[in-house]
Amino acid sequence: MPNISFDYIEEELRRIEGEFETHLVTETPLIYRVAKYVIESGGKRIRPALLITSAKLCGYEGKDHISLAAVIEFIHTATLLHDDVVDNAPLRRGLSSANVVFGNEASVLIGDYLFAKSFKVLSALGNIDIIKAYSDATTLMAEGEVNELVKTADIKISEEEYLDIIIKKTAVLFACAARGGAILAGKDEDFGERLYEYGLNIGIAFQLMDDTLDYTSNEKFGKFIGNDLKEGKVTLPLIHTLERCEPQEKDFIAGIIYKKKLNKGDLKAVLDLVNYYDSLEYTISMANEKIEKAKRSLNVFQGSVFKESLVDMANYIIERKL
Ligand code: IPE
Ligand code: IPE
Ligand code: MG
Ligand code: MG
Repeated sequence: MPNISFDYIEEELRRIEGEFETHLVTETPLIYRVAKYVIESGGKRIRPALLITSAKLCGYEGKDHISLAAVIEFIHTATLLHDDVVDNAPLRRGLSSANVVFGNEASVLIGDYLFAKSFKVLSALGNIDIIKAYSDATTLMAEGEVNELVKTADIKISEEEYLDIIIKKTAVLFACAARGGAILAGKDEDFGERLYEYGLNIGIAFQLMDDTLDYTSNEKFGKFIGNDLKEGKVTLPLIHTLERCEPQEKDFIAGIIYKKKLNKGDLKAVLDLVNYYDSLEYTISMANEKIEKAKRSLNVFQGSVFKESLVDMANYIIERKL
């Protein structure tokens, strides 16, 4: 992964890639083709790395963290397959998205397969606390995506409503990954809550930065820039601008959001307003606050390579360009 190194868990990450293969071999070749296409397209694997690192931080010495980390990436992949259909996204990880290559129908169904398979693998591990944590997270994620859909093109969406959406759709999976390691190690009572809090805050920051990058990134991001604006996703940079701008500027932005098309001129005009009202700085500074809060949750842990890595991951979230 660029910018951040997971050398200290290289072996585990390799085994996780092997697990993907084992779980994807089915009697239905289309499942294998679509799932492989997305999984092998170069995701950062930040959620599995988080789970493995938190398990080790909590002193776990068994083998189940590999399956658990593979499942967290399966769940992430399932949400991406569904999300790209919902968002009409043409690009993912620098490649044509699965909905473009295989169609919406295949993307939705193979996303469903990955969810189902995730819980089959989890139930085989026989840890009810883990099953509960993962099912809580996936239920909230689905709720977050639906709430975001309901708020599409709503220029009155508040900062609180937006934060509730991103906590659910993105942050709870980071929190689940971070806490998962503590549950496995039998340290949920003393460390699980702190790791959950850490994961939740880096997850919020992650989505805040993602929504910033949707305005400012270049093709290295691997996603279509301006897609949020085009699809009527009113994210924090725009919410901040809408709450401060002049009525005619608000009408102008609303016109672009309702159009469901976006040319370069529209994106530039909105970006000029977003810059004028310092809304990207505002969003990034909120992300920074969440990262600092996340790092404070780690105070209960003694110094180790694993703790350092969680700090690095938190810092990386602000610096990432893809
Ligand atoms: C993308 O997540 C979805 C969001 C929550 C913004 P990542 O940026 O972690 O995706 P990959 O797996 O590295 O492509
Ligand atoms: C990411 O939502 C959250 C999930 C996939 C559940 P976005 O729609 O904001 O993420 P990208 O930008 O498509 O990766
Ligand atoms: Mg999307
Ligand atoms: Mg989306």
